[in-house]
Amino acid sequence: MTDQNPLVVFTPSGKRGRFPVGTPILTAARQLGVDLDSVCGGRGICSKCQITPGVGEFPKHGVTVAADALSEWNAVEERYDQKRGLKPGRRLGCQATVQSDVVIDVPPESQVHKQVVRKAASARAIVMDPATRLFFVEVDEPDMHTPTGDFERLERALREQWEVDGLRADLTLLTKLQKALRKGDWKVTVALHRDHQASKSTIIDIWPGLHEAGLYGLAIDLGSTTVAAHLTDLETGEVKASSGIMNPQIRFGEDLMSRVSYAMMNPGGEVEMTRAVREALNTLAEEIAKEAGIDAALIVETVFVCNPVMHHLLLGIDPVELGQAPFALATSESLSLGARELELTAINPRAQVYVLPCIAGHVGADAAAVALSEEPGKSEDLALIVDVGTNAEILLGDKTRVLACSSPTGPAFEGAQISSGQRAAPGAIEAIRIDPETKEPRFRVIGCEKWSDEDGFWDETAATGITGICGSGIIEAVAEMRIAGLLDPKGLIGSAAQTGTDRCVPEGRTHAYLIHDASAEGGPRITVTQGDIRAIQLAKSALYAGARLLMDERGVEKVDRVVLAGAFGAHISPLHAMVLGMIPDVPLDKVTSAGNAAGTGARIALCNVGARKEIERVVREITKVETAIEPKFQEHFVNANAIPHATDPFPELGKITTLPDVSFNTGGDDGAEGGRRRRRRRA
Ligand code: FES
Repeated sequence: MTDQNPLVVFTPSGKRGRFPVGTPILTAARQLGVDLDSVCGGRGICSKCQITPGVGEFPKHGVTVAADALSEWNAVEERYDQKRGLKPGRRLGCQATVQSDVVIDVPPESQVHKQVVRKAASARAIVMDPATRLFFVEVDEPDMHTPTGDFERLERALREQWEVDGLRADLTLLTKLQKALRKGDWKVTVALHRDHQASKSTIIDIWPGLHEAGLYGLAIDLGSTTVAAHLTDLETGEVKASSGIMNPQIRFGEDLMSRVSYAMMNPGGEVEMTRAVREALNTLAEEIAKEAGIDAALIVETVFVCNPVMHHLLLGIDPVELGQAPFALATSESLSLGARELELTAINPRAQVYVLPCIAGHVGADAAAVALSEEPGKSEDLALIVDVGTNAEILLGDKTRVLACSSPTGPAFEGAQISSGQRAAPGAIEAIRIDPETKEPRFRVIGCEKWSDEDGFWDETAATGITGICGSGIIEAVAEMRIAGLLDPKGLIGSAAQTGTDRCVPEGRTHAYLIHDASAEGGPRITVTQGDIRAIQLAKSALYAGARLLMDERGVEKVDRVVLAGAFGAHISPLHAMVLGMIPDVPLDKVTSAGNAAGTGARIALCNVGARKEIERVVREITKVETAIEPKFQEHFVNANAIPHATDPFPELGKITTLPDVSFNTGGDDGAEGGRRRRRRRA
């Protein structure tokens, strides 16, 4: 068989084929469909095509590789090695040619579609396939005898060298074109954006010669309270910097409906809110680019996920229709726009924006992003995914069907509308335990690993002090009060006489539980008041009722697992969430946290253009359930007001904890009697 062409085996793909002696490895890779990167098209200048040839015996592949299986190190590689340095054992795939049987390893950094593993627990790899990529081209020089425009010759070069068709460029690009071509001696790099819906490619930017400073994108989770952005390298998928700012629209209203009201009551109010958020986005883009040390003009793509009201206000659409039934969106489809249309002036002027589709008038692109990231439609078991925020986005589904709704939980879970509430910041109580015997609390604050009853706690927290309770802290506090018998199922806090602790102090006609009192030193007095309990009850009832509504629609009484998503969801203790009755009863080990799933979904759509098609398909198939007009929602809401629940059994919770059977509903008198009376009636 000596007359056969040499065999080339690629790892890790295992793809193999025979090629004539002298075939460049890059050419062999392309013919076999092996994922080997190249920006310069084999000209030996981009170094993206690096490979590692093996030598010796490869029994697995049935190949023996000779030391001279590839052509000798050539002048191009020599020059590249001297200028930049090639790692030992590496060759340039476009320069090394096949001489005899060979095994070639393609290292991860040379793969176009490299996988980037997410950090979240349910680590799902993102396959890199961004919409915008770099292409190096050599363009013919102009010729007086066959006159053509520079753009037309660039178009031809891209078609011939990279098989790019349907090329477009806007006027601002044309104004740069001629200088770039001449400065680069007719060799240029272009950043091309492929539209995943139409077969067109748009030139986003052009640079003389080989552009080596990379391309970047922003994945933005535009929330009602905060705006979070991840600056991502579009070649490697690496997050270069993450940053967040407060949504300046807060000054027009804390929650979504108050912003819709602001637009209704104030002519031009929506324009003001649009302007505010766009300004904030420009500030955020500038800051994040600065933090990462990159030129903001290299940000060529931005992906947005947001709830419907934020979606409309970002786009400059009046959100008033979203404030009233039938909650019609201007469009629920995904949007591909130019950054200029959104006045995003801090990034590349020709940058492209992709906004994920909305699911319904109350269920936005943020929920779509959670669906993209958590993939309930691929789940074998029935998963309930809850993205906890000012509005809770809820998804319920498995392989057969996915349903979605949103529920107005309000800002209580974020520490707002809570008497001692505050945002998650150093000094905020984030975890708390109450001794069921002594009723004494111990707690942990953000910024210190120790519990308050451990040595060194007070020294370590002296700088920040104990300033308040954040969202996860208030959930734990209320649940612990219920476990310790300080709070009855209806949500009433007992008096000192009823509970046997002086920490239950009178507060008007009700009671409050005192966690920490620094008032003697001029510090805060941190309590959980009856009003706080009510605010948490309203929020958790809305969340649970939304989940129940989806379960009704699906015809089930229980779910197999619960995923808590959202930055806040990551910090909620599953046990306490269940004691509170925020989530349906499941075994505790079936409650997991997905971190900022909406932000991850945005990053997936930024890094992989195919994911955009995927989520557009998935969203079309999701069953939308509208909570606001569903009479059953009210019934579920009322029943969910009790802690954990008035009617639904919580058998899994019962296996791990027994909640005291107390009642503090005294009808105004002292209460201890009332508690006993109540218990007798129930028995
Ligand atoms: Fe660019 Fe080989 S393909 S250096």
